[in-house]
Amino acid sequence: MSGILRRSELATPASNERMFAKAAAAGADLVFLDLEDAVAPAQKEASRPKAVTALRELEWGRTARAVRVNGLDTTWCHDDIIEVVTGAREHLDTIIVPKARTARDVWWVDVLLTQLEAKLGMTKRIRLEVLIEEVEGLANAEAIAAASPRLDALIFGAGDFSVSQGARVDTNFVPVGEYPGDFWHYARAKVLVAARIAGIDAVDAPYPDYRDTAGYERDARRAAMLGYTGKWAIHPSQVAIANDVYAPTPDEIARAERNVAAYRHGEARGLGAVGVDGVLVDAAHVKLAEATLARAARIPSY
Ligand code: GLV
Ligand code: MG
Repeated sequence: MSGILRRSELATPASNERMFAKAAAAGADLVFLDLEDAVAPAQKEASRPKAVTALRELEWGRTARAVRVNGLDTTWCHDDIIEVVTGAREHLDTIIVPKARTARDVWWVDVLLTQLEAKLGMTKRIRLEVLIEEVEGLANAEAIAAASPRLDALIFGAGDFSVSQGARVDTNFVPVGEYPGDFWHYARAKVLVAARIAGIDAVDAPYPDYRDTAGYERDARRAAMLGYTGKWAIHPSQVAIANDVYAPTPDEIARAERNVAAYRHGEARGLGAVGVDGVLVDAAHVKLAEATLARAARIPSY
């Protein structure tokens, strides 16, 4: 797990300057200006300088600044990267690569960034996040997750994944009929495990129905329980929910502190396991507790 907070990643179309200031001030851990699927083909090139200006000139506070470029199978991808990095330089933190299919895709972006950073004399290293939203990308998720030291997170993209898998889902990526169990569990769990093997974060899919805040919160909680560190937000109103859900609860923190204290007390007496309220606590519980406390320590107090 990387040390950077990724509870909420807010999408904003790079074509629409009117949305930029609100996005920058939404309180998200990361905002990405999208050059990909939220931007019409005719607007792609004109959107690049808009993104650069926003990255350079807006007040972003503690929010990480990202751009989602077009996929490697388009004619825009390399110019997206070159124009945005050349224009924004250190005002850009992360590039999000959509529709990754193989480790080579990530490697190609890494090489291009390395050349650009050297050419521009940049000391800052641009970070990467990639979307797993193609069936081939899911099959190769472990290799993709390990493909570059720049990589901080895999993102599960349920929308394009529905297309790639041939799933019959509604506009909110919910199966159109009764389905036993969690329709997306296999893909979600596989993305998470691949990220964890590589020691990076997993970020959950967008939830298009932004008026359904209860549904967003329910999905966010489920992914958080699995181990996801955050979720996309496609509307500023989803940001506060994600920030809340992906922070440890007071109950989790209290349990973590109690278990660590009891274990340390036992350890001082030569014990490797202790009972806390009739429940066994051993070294695995301490690791769980320490991970919870480390997550809590990173949450900024506004
Ligand atoms: C995100 O890009 C998705 O396709 O869900
Ligand atoms: Mg997508």
